[in-house]
Amino acid sequence: MKILVATDKPFAKAAVDGIREIVEKAGHELALCEKYTDVSEFHKAVEDADALIVRSDKVDAAVVNAAKNLKIVVRAGAGFDNLDLAACTEKNIVCMNTPGQNSNAVAELALGMMIYMARNSFHPGTGSELKGKKLGIHAYGNIGKIVAKLGKAFDMDVYALDPFVDAKVIEADGVKVVNSVEELYSTCHYISLHIPANEKTKKSIGYDLLGKMPKGGCLVNTARKEVIHEEELVKIFTERTDLKYATDMEAGNQAELNEKFGTRVFATPKKMGAETAEANINAGLAAANQICKFFATGDTTFKVN
Ligand code: 3PG
Repeated sequence: MKILVATDKPFAKAAVDGIREIVEKAGHELALCEKYTDVSEFHKAVEDADALIVRSDKVDAAVVNAAKNLKIVVRAGAGFDNLDLAACTEKNIVCMNTPGQNSNAVAELALGMMIYMARNSFHPGTGSELKGKKLGIHAYGNIGKIVAKLGKAFDMDVYALDPFVDAKVIEADGVKVVNSVEELYSTCHYISLHIPANEKTKKSIGYDLLGKMPKGGCLVNTARKEVIHEEELVKIFTERTDLKYATDMEAGNQAELNEKFGTRVFATPKKMGAETAEANINAGLAAANQICKFFATGDTTFKVN
């Protein structure tokens, strides 16, 4: 089988080497389409691929239609909002993710962003400490759980909201459970966002929620920019000059945010939460193993469609 790695943002070399070893050992062939500058390169490369490994690369109907032999797509990472599940399902293509494999990298970045914002983007002047501040984990999945642990190591008072996780499981980590999103935002100085982007969550964080945050409140978004109502963020940040926003992907209106709010906002130039060698290796190798297992035994653990 031909397994294609198509990554606009390439994996670390060690991850590609590891993927190759797994793929070839299982008797398959590896093809690479890395750092493509135009999607047409991706469309061409996928034509004869039996399996596909991507990161945030869009696997839309055009990709699915270009692929004549595709049987499985693995998103090496957690969020699979870049996969057109309906288009894949229609062509009997199995879609998977690799949950948990890059969580530590994302969680460490979230804490790094909190420190960066607390210390005035490393500009001279008096900042503040994380110790003693209230940290709200918005969705207690693999990443949220690690952010909570790191926050506790900084002596933060940690709260969480996740209707899909048993409160007892969260409390066992020494984290307080709140009952509503409003309670989370009105309680916490820092909010670390870990919700997926879907029809229910898109644009769900806006004027009302942000306006509830305590003085000096800071929203840290290592999830997806789509969950933010960007126009409403501008509105509340204009009224509340104490609020801050750090995001691991430029907002749609980042130029406006930078111009209006200066160092109260920060965005990484390209999503870098999972940009560590460790995360690349964990997620990349997991993707390769999942594909080989699927071809060998039909295993569909981590199927998302
Ligand atoms: C994920 O959903 O796993 C992260 O957003 C990482 O995305 P990336 O592989 O594009 O860095």
